[in-house]
Amino acid sequence: MESLVLDYTLAMDDALGEKQGVSRYILEALRIPLQDARDHLLARRREGTLAWTELPRKDVRGVLEYAERVQGRFENLVVLGIGGSALGTTALATALLHPYHNLLPASGRAQRPRLFVLDNVDPDQTQDLFSHLDVRKTLVNVVSKSGTTAETMAAYLIMRDLLEDQVGRGRLAEHLVFTTDPEGGVLRKIGRAEGIQMFDIPAGVGGRFSVLSPVGLLPAALVGIDVERLLAGARFMDEWITETDLVYNPAYVYAALQFLEHTRYHRDIAVMMPYSARLRDVADWFRQLWAESLGKAVDRRGRTVHAGTTPVKALGATDQHSQVQLYAEGPDDKFFTFIKVGEFGYDLTIPDAHPGAEELSYLAGQSMGGLLNAEQRATAWALARRGRPSVTIELPRVDEAGLGQLLYLFEAATAVMGELYDIDAFDQPGVELGKQATYALMGRPGFEELATEIRAEVPERTPYRIERK
Ligand code: PA5
Repeated sequence: MESLVLDYTLAMDDALGEKQGVSRYILEALRIPLQDARDHLLARRREGTLAWTELPRKDVRGVLEYAERVQGRFENLVVLGIGGSALGTTALATALLHPYHNLLPASGRAQRPRLFVLDNVDPDQTQDLFSHLDVRKTLVNVVSKSGTTAETMAAYLIMRDLLEDQVGRGRLAEHLVFTTDPEGGVLRKIGRAEGIQMFDIPAGVGGRFSVLSPVGLLPAALVGIDVERLLAGARFMDEWITETDLVYNPAYVYAALQFLEHTRYHRDIAVMMPYSARLRDVADWFRQLWAESLGKAVDRRGRTVHAGTTPVKALGATDQHSQVQLYAEGPDDKFFTFIKVGEFGYDLTIPDAHPGAEELSYLAGQSMGGLLNAEQRATAWALARRGRPSVTIELPRVDEAGLGQLLYLFEAATAVMGELYDIDAFDQPGVELGKQATYALMGRPGFEELATEIRAEVPERTPYRIERK
């Protein structure tokens, strides 16, 4: 398998100067904490408490058999989920499906369904989608580990009502497939009672680390993505990370640089900027992975740390004309991760349509992919010129093997970052509090006290409001 490349030349002092760039000496000084991180993560793997690291080697026959069984039966696949239960699917679909998959005729999609991922409870969006689908030809994948998330369950209840109305109660189960906790939760209970096909989110796998579980694999297989190849890519990366010395280890080097940029150089914004429209939602998926895993108030010893850097997504070359002015001349508080692609799906040659126009002639005969990659190189160089550090990840091509490597690399690097910060990268107490507050405001039994507290602190008519009368 062709490996991705992590190039960190433009983060080093040779390129940026000793004040702004990382020196080999500084990197070397991190060797002991990195080795500790590695020992701890490997020990947790041996104990079986890092369940997401087992996903690349899990048996996916169940997913593949189900996808084959229903192939050709549905025109639409609707995925209902939020956060870690949706972002991975969107990232995979944007990267690996035809960009206009949903507009292609069924023959152009190999009879695979169109895909809609609904990850919000915006009534306009929900109504606009549901009213345009022929629900009789729709399969609905409800994805929720807890089975209680308000957004997902509200969408499910509305969709279920529609299905019941149009296909009848007796055929409801054929149109539903649940991906949820193997034991607990109301979704599991409903699924059992009604004979609905279910897939497990393995115990101990948190939402943002679940893309390589049935959370991401089931919708991917249903729309025709080669999930075995995706897992092969992740395994390839996993072996590289577990077997290689720290200096040549992409997850540890990437995490070390991110950590140093934050703690030593006070760059607390992590910009991810793929130069490929297909990878734009990988940056969105990464944003959640990084933010929810590393944004923590206390460390493992209970000390207040407020760890984490703020992930920002951008897209090359589009955002060169939107964000790069700030990146180059605004505060020096950002560390950039560029992702570039070696070989694009198409090699479009720019024609020489105006031979007399000198301003355009340099483009004639060049490939569009070549232009995009030149822009990435130019931007990274221009930022470095101003002392702004970056790494570039080069993906041979945007395919399943490459995506498997890339996603797993970011998951592993996030886990290493958690070790370096000495925080729990796998919980999300900040999200839980918001979820509970929503239950309280929506009148869920058991949350009455919290509801009173919220209403007292933030009344319906808040005191500091201005509006034009
Ligand atoms: O990463 C996480 O844990 C979260 O983003 C969850 O995936 C998200 O809150 C949805 O939770 P659930 O899958 O329980 O509905």
